[in-house]
Amino acid sequence: MKALIASGGRGTRLRPITHTQNKHLIPIANKPILHYALEAVAEAGVSDVAIVHNADSLEVPNFIGDGSRWGIRITYLQQERPGGLAQVVQLAEDFMKGESFMFYLGDNMVVGGVKRFVDEFQRSGCNCLLTLAKVHDPERFGVPEIRDGKIIGVEEKPRMPKSQYAVAGIYIYDNHIFEAVKTLRPSARGELEISEAHQYLIDHGYSVISTEITGWWKDTGKPEDLLEANRLVLENAVPRRDGEVDNRSEIAGKVIIEPGARIVNSKIRGPVMVGRDCLIENSYIGPFTSIGDNTEIWASEVEFSIIMKGCKIHGVGARIEGSILGNDVEILETQAKPRVHRFMIGDQSRVEVA
Ligand code: DAU
Repeated sequence: MKALIASGGRGTRLRPITHTQNKHLIPIANKPILHYALEAVAEAGVSDVAIVHNADSLEVPNFIGDGSRWGIRITYLQQERPGGLAQVVQLAEDFMKGESFMFYLGDNMVVGGVKRFVDEFQRSGCNCLLTLAKVHDPERFGVPEIRDGKIIGVEEKPRMPKSQYAVAGIYIYDNHIFEAVKTLRPSARGELEISEAHQYLIDHGYSVISTEITGWWKDTGKPEDLLEANRLVLENAVPRRDGEVDNRSEIAGKVIIEPGARIVNSKIRGPVMVGRDCLIENSYIGPFTSIGDNTEIWASEVEFSIIMKGCKIHGVGARIEGSILGNDVEILETQAKPRVHRFMIGDQSRVEVA
């Protein structure tokens, strides 16, 4: 068994963060989203992994490296433009050399690992295993039509979904998927759709089975998905206190404080993660917040937020909540008169002020 991980695409729904950073490298609980996928495939015993990335950027290969830190071997494949998930599969045909493989969308996160899917695929002898998750908004996803427990169709982002399930971005195929992806034409949105490849397999009598993800699964396509994924990972984190906490501070619940971080006269209510060399002073940090390395929060309140590395939040009057701050962002109180808001904000940013 090999693995193919998709890390291309443009991440348009996560702008402006994705103007300067590949979406798969955005941190969830201070760890890039893509690391979760790599950990999952390594843990499932897969050691030969191909990652597809945008041809115009080496950000992913430079950041992820050769895979040795996970005990796997990574080969990078370039995609000229985001032509769809079935195109991502096409690019990997030579790499797979006829072997079965797991196709893992790099922006998907799942708790509980993926080994059970590999085991089920091997046990069943099927041609394709799809993972399904029950969702409130199936129209955002590939949606299966199920009759008597069997998948009889798959539609991509249907207006009238035929079930409450999303096909999650973790699939296992044998080499017949390459026959399927070769038959496709671009869809209305100009992509070779993976759902159409699944439909081809069904229509041509191949065995397509499914398994339900009963724990949590998240496609981190939108800002609220990132916050939700961050919340879920922090909830399962193991508390650790490697930094310094002074005796005027109060720490409650699951809190991870990395080495070099200092908590001074502050209240932290977990689940919270404070990165290396941060300073939290005269502040309140509330549940489901992760704070990247070298960030400084002073006389401010932050809750349910992702704050990346090197940020400065000083003397902000109202509590910051439900927010995502990229790297090196500064939000500072000004002493200048008259009291004004002064912004220096890049394209497609969003600020809400009280
Ligand atoms: O998350 C599950 C869903 O993923 C499935 O239910 C859908 O059937 C499937 O089409 C896909 O839908 P999305 O609209 O969420 O796909 P998205 O464009 O966000 O791309 C998914 C991942 O693949 C993401 O990590 C970016 C990467 N990608 C995407 C395209 C279109 C590539 O590497 N190359 C591409 O050409």
